[in-house]
Amino acid sequence: KTNVLTVHSQNPEHAVIAEAARVIQSGRLAAFPTETVYGLGANALDVQAVLRIFAAKGRPSHDPLIVHIADLSMLEQVARDVPEEARLLAEHFWPGPLTLILPKHANIPAEVTAGLENVAVRMPAHPVALALIRAAGLPVAAPSANRFGHTSPTSAAHVLADLDGRIDLILDGGSTQIGVESTVLDVSQSPARILRPGGVSYEALCEVLENVMINGQKASPDNLPQLSPGMLSRHYAPHAVMILYESDGDARVCAEMQEKVTGLLAEGKQVGVICAVEDLIYFEGTNAVVRLVGSVEHLEEIARNLYLALRDLDAAGMDYIVAREFGSQGIGLAIQDRLRRAATIKEQR
Ligand code: TXA
Ligand code: MG
Repeated sequence: KTNVLTVHSQNPEHAVIAEAARVIQSGRLAAFPTETVYGLGANALDVQAVLRIFAAKGRPSHDPLIVHIADLSMLEQVARDVPEEARLLAEHFWPGPLTLILPKHANIPAEVTAGLENVAVRMPAHPVALALIRAAGLPVAAPSANRFGHTSPTSAAHVLADLDGRIDLILDGGSTQIGVESTVLDVSQSPARILRPGGVSYEALCEVLENVMINGQKASPDNLPQLSPGMLSRHYAPHAVMILYESDGDARVCAEMQEKVTGLLAEGKQVGVICAVEDLIYFEGTNAVVRLVGSVEHLEEIARNLYLALRDLDAAGMDYIVAREFGSQGIGLAIQDRLRRAATIKEQR
């Protein structure tokens, strides 16, 4: 039976945190909010506890975990060596949605890193996450708290929907702020490479580092490399068939989407649309279930609402979910990446 405890997101109650810390210390699993998505935490130094994470999620053992820390002194227990670039990044972006790939300390079991020589480390910017790690007094391994391959959870209800009965505790600290996962940056080699775009934008990284690679390509902020869709496997995915229209932010693609939606509806399909307020005019006259996720002028808003919209449309029994891309500026790159990974069918123009 999974215990759910409500916790104040800004001033977490001492007793609640203490209970969750005991769960972690005793080798069991506790889900907790971070500023990106909910994580499924376990003692990163305890092999049995780490194996429970993989079992609960149905995650293959070759997919490594992120180790979460609460202060820089913990970093020394997790990473064997912290290059100057990494120190600079930690100073700028921690606590925050940036995960650094660093040479692994011998303390960290091979199960955490899937046998890799490097470990992923992040200091989350959420009072509940920080209080929990501090109270536990040890580094906390935590992937997103969803079944493997599914959409990441942005609320405790999402965690419960995926993992009820499979984990010991969920700390319910409300909805998460950012809504997509952290940026994973490999700083074990130079230049640094983005392995997964996320909460810290490519442009923000470029203000600190001279060279940042995406997809093996060198780039500058005014010449943003495109993510190559072929490299992405289906992940972060809803159960419905998802049709994604490529768009560099151009809303003209909506006319094509509208035609597709109308056709599917005519076949008797249930169709959901992930919709920006600017695009509503194309779909409000149809029988599609329209989920507004925000304005194209505020991509942060779209990022925050994206996973909730995908889960709600799934729960409403849609056969198809239709969406478009919103460009690749700022957090748009992470949105584009997640939409492409969630998509079953990609319509290129
Ligand atoms: O925002 C986030 O990052 C959330 C919250 C809970 O912190 N966590 C998260 O974890 O999204 P997860 O396990 O769902 O995704 C971790 C990503 C995976 O793509 C994994 O392959 C990569 O980080 N990763 C982990 N360790 C790595 C390593 N040693 N080398 C390269 N990639 C690694
Ligand atoms: Mg995940």
